[in-house]
Amino acid sequence: MSIVNTFEINEPLDMHLHLRDGDMLKLVGPLTSNTFSGALIMPNLVPPVTTKEALLDYKQRIKEACSGDDFEPYVTLFFQTTYSYDFLKDVKDDIIGIKLYPAGITTNSQTGVSSMDVEVLRPTLEAMSKLGIPLCIHGETNGFVMDREKEFMPIYESIASAFPDLKIIMEHITTKDAIDLLDKYDNLYATVTLHHLLITLDDVAGGALQPHLFCKPIAKRPEDRTALLNTALKGHPKLMFGSDSAPHPKHKKECCGCAAGVFTSPIALQVLTELFDKYQSLDNLNAFVSLNAQKFYGLKPVKKTIKLVKKDFEVPSIYEYKDENVVPMYAGETIAWSIA
Ligand code: DOR
Ligand code: ZN
Repeated sequence: MSIVNTFEINEPLDMHLHLRDGDMLKLVGPLTSNTFSGALIMPNLVPPVTTKEALLDYKQRIKEACSGDDFEPYVTLFFQTTYSYDFLKDVKDDIIGIKLYPAGITTNSQTGVSSMDVEVLRPTLEAMSKLGIPLCIHGETNGFVMDREKEFMPIYESIASAFPDLKIIMEHITTKDAIDLLDKYDNLYATVTLHHLLITLDDVAGGALQPHLFCKPIAKRPEDRTALLNTALKGHPKLMFGSDSAPHPKHKKECCGCAAGVFTSPIALQVLTELFDKYQSLDNLNAFVSLNAQKFYGLKPVKKTIKLVKKDFEVPSIYEYKDENVVPMYAGETIAWSIA
């Protein structure tokens, strides 16, 4: 077995990212754009991104926040059942996809859809299917927290079979059930986060409660993590990296009523490299973190080669800008790979 000390990732893409707005955007935007070529940006702002004007303005603010880097924000709309075919046709070239949230299922999703009945969703999904707009879904019911994703599987199946030409992305999958579904429908794809490849519920709540690892969907069982990890390590063509890096200020994490979200942007590529190296799977890392997404979304990302070296990196305990701050995963700890 050869020892690897350096590794290159070309055109890294983060296909599920929360950048927020205002000073938080200015703080976290560059922590992605300095290493990634592009990212799919989630629309769950307050209020959510539902108009062409809001979409283009937000994209502009992201570009300004990341102006020091060559970086493409691929923006999305927040799914509404009221979108007309003509509206979607008009915005089609400005978006990479539309994100559907069941109402109230997670941060800033109160105005999501109140029914996942295919007939309720049909007009919008038919238009998206005709126009070739991918559908990104937060797939959780409001059942028992550990079963929410599993309970959502029949909903994925009903949409995938009702709209065979619609490309559907099961976002941030956390279960073996979702992995099993991936190969059952040609039009089903998925993203997986870094943290769900690493942690289980035990890491969140098995000992002293770890608010910085609390997210939606919550981390699951060891067998789920194993299924996710094995599929990612293989570079499975239907599985893409999407960090779901979701910054919340420290006071909203270290409190009663902790907000959901793990902030991983500044460590994502280093820890992915460490993980793929550990399992001798570095040959598949470029597929997982770039090529699969390029192929699926038809992207031509800006050229960027990130060189990683096996050298300790001390993760900052906090990132700050003006009145904003955010604590990253592994805050204050040392990880084994660094950006050269
Ligand atoms: O943990 C999460 N945080 N899950 C989500 O779905 C949303 C995200 C956020 O926006 O904070
Ligand atoms: Zn998310």
